[in-house]
Amino acid sequence: MVDTITIRPTTQHDLGAVDALLAASYPALLKRDYAPSVLVTALPLISRANPALLRSGTYFIAEDAEGQALAAGGWTRSAPQGGVGLPEIGHVRHVATHPSHLRKGLAQAIVTRVLADALAAGVERMICQSTQTAVPFYKAMGFRVRGEILIALRPGITFPAVEMERAL
Ligand SMILES: CC(C)(COP(=O)(O)OP(=O)(O)OC[C@H]1O[C@@H](n2cnc3c(N)ncnc32)[C@H](O)[C@@H]1OP(=O)(O)O)[C@@H](O)C(=O)NCCC(=O)NCCS
Repeated sequence: MVDTITIRPTTQHDLGAVDALLAASYPALLKRDYAPSVLVTALPLISRANPALLRSGTYFIAEDAEGQALAAGGWTRSAPQGGVGLPEIGHVRHVATHPSHLRKGLAQAIVTRVLADALAAGVERMICQSTQTAVPFYKAMGFRVRGEILIALRPGITFPAVEMERAL
């Protein structure tokens, strides 16, 4: 673990920091598991911070003592592709760690906060559209694989992912 980590909900003022974090993390870490032809169309769509998510109150950032963003992630009741879901179902959203700070427990700390927050809000089951890269991480966090999925990001642009779930 990194010394003196603070985890707090984001606001719209964190847009630049989260954008930079996702832009550092996704391209560097996903290239091990995805073909360049997939990443060239998907990365511009999945590695940008989502302003509505940052304002949701259920998206969190982990910062070091200098206020440097090291990891982020959150949850919503709405599914990543939109649509209002069942109140007892939560969706894990946009979890990422800076590639210079992997395997220090940062994403674990973020997801632990996410799960506790969702439980306190009455959620009973969490679903996650995991990248192929993050499957071992979510397994370590108690999620099980429901199956492989193909996310339609835009007409003609799809992204292979793995749907995972766990009870709270
Ligand atoms: C997946 C990701 C968020 C994990 O971040 P992290 O901060 O390095 O994860 P943690 O240090 O909290 O890992 C906790 C546990 O998960 C498991 N784990 C994490 N990364 C793993 C990996 N690459 N391989 C195998 N197990 C892994 C381990 O059990 C680990 O515990 P350990 O280090 O004591 O063995 C990070 O690799 C990432 O940002 N990937 C790119 C973005 C992405 O795919 N996000 C998911 C969107 S759905």
